[in-house]
Amino acid sequence: MRPDLHLNPEQRAAVEHPGGPLLVVAGAGSGKTRVLTARVAWLLERGEPPESVLAFTFTNRAAGEMRERIFGMVGEPASRVWIGTFHATAVRILRREARRLGIPPGFTIYDREDQEKAVAQVLKRLELPEGLLRAPVILGRISDAKSALVDPAAMAESAVSPHEKRVAECYAAYQEELRRNAALDFDDLIAECVGLLRDHPESRAHWSGRFRHVLVDEYQDTNHAQFRLVEALASTHGEVFAVGDDDQSIYGWRGATLRNVLDFEHAFPGAGLLRLLPAAFFFTGTSSSSSSALSASPPARPRFSQTSSSTQLGHRGLLLVQV
Ligand SMILES: Nc1ncnc2c1ncn2[C@@H]1O[C@H](COP(=O)(O)OP(=O)(O)OP(=O)(O)O)[C@@H](O)[C@H]1O
Ligand SMILES: [Mg+2]
Repeated sequence: MRPDLHLNPEQRAAVEHPGGPLLVVAGAGSGKTRVLTARVAWLLERGEPPESVLAFTFTNRAAGEMRERIFGMVGEPASRVWIGTFHATAVRILRREARRLGIPPGFTIYDREDQEKAVAQVLKRLELPEGLLRAPVILGRISDAKSALVDPAAMAESAVSPHEKRVAECYAAYQEELRRNAALDFDDLIAECVGLLRDHPESRAHWSGRFRHVLVDEYQDTNHAQFRLVEALASTHGEVFAVGDDDQSIYGWRGATLRNVLDFEHAFPGAGLLRLLPAAFFFTGTSSSSSSALSASPPARPRFSQTSSSTQLGHRGLLLVQV
C-alpha cells in the first residue's frame, strides 16, 4: 500500500487482519475510520476484486470521503467498491430485486413530508377522532418497530392497551397506503432488504456470495435491522470487519443497540476482538488467559470486557492489552 496513510502498529494489525470476523473497538477519534479505509485499500491491493467489497458508512458524506481516500491509495478499482450508508446500499440491492418482493423496481422513497401525508390519509380512513393520535407519535412508533423488524401483525399481537392497539392499526394501514403508492419509507429500505435476504435463499446466496468482505463503520450505532442485514450479507463467509466505540453508543441514534457490539462474537462465531487503546500497548497473538499483563491491567473499558472476556474472544484471538 502506498504509504500516504500512516498507521500505528496497532492500527496496522487491524488493517492486516488475516481473516475471519473481527470487531475493532476504540475510543472517539482514535483512528477507527482510518483503519476501515485502509483495510479496504489493503484488500484491493491483495487482489480482492473491488466488486466483492462492501463498506457501510454512517453518512453519505463519510462514504464520499472514504472513496476518495481509497482512490488516492489504490486508484480506479476504488470506484467499483460498494461504499455507502445502510440506506443507500439497501436501495441499490432493492432496485435490482424489487420484483421478488412484489414492488416495482422504480419504487418511490418517501421523505418525512410524504410520510406525514400518508399518516394523515390513514387517520382519515380509520376515522380516528382528531387529536387522539398525532402523526409524529405514530411515525416514531412505526420507525422503532421497523428498526426492530417488528411487522404490523407482530405489533398488533403484542398490543395490550387501546392506545397500542390503535397504533398497530395505524401501522397496518400506513403500510397498505405505502404499498398502494409503490412507496417505501427510509426504515422500509433496510427492513425490506432484510426480508428479501431472509425469505429468498437465491437472493441471499447471490448477495452474500458476491460480497466476500463486509465492513461496517460506527458499528455501535447499528440497530437490529441493520445488524440483520450485515449478518445476512456475511452468511456464506463470515468476513465481517466492524469498527465501533462501545462508549459512544450511550449517545447513539434512536434504535441503535449496544447489544450488537456485545453480541458480535455470538453472531459471528470465531470472532476476534481488537481494542485500540489510547495508551501504550503490547500485542499478543492469541488468547491471553495466561497473560500476566492482562490480569495485572484490566482493559480500559470493563463494560465490554465483562460481557466478552478475552478467552471467549480468543480462538482466533487478537488482543491488545494495555500495559
Ligand atoms: N496513525 C495515524 N497517523 C496520523 N493521523 C491519524 C492516525 N490515526 C488517526 N489519525 C487521524 O486522527 C483523526 C481521527 O481519525 P478517525 O476519524 O479515523 O478516528 P475515529 O476513531 O473514526 O473517530 P470517530 O470516533 O470520530 O469516528 C483523523 O484526522 C485521522 O486522520
Ligand atoms: Mg470514525
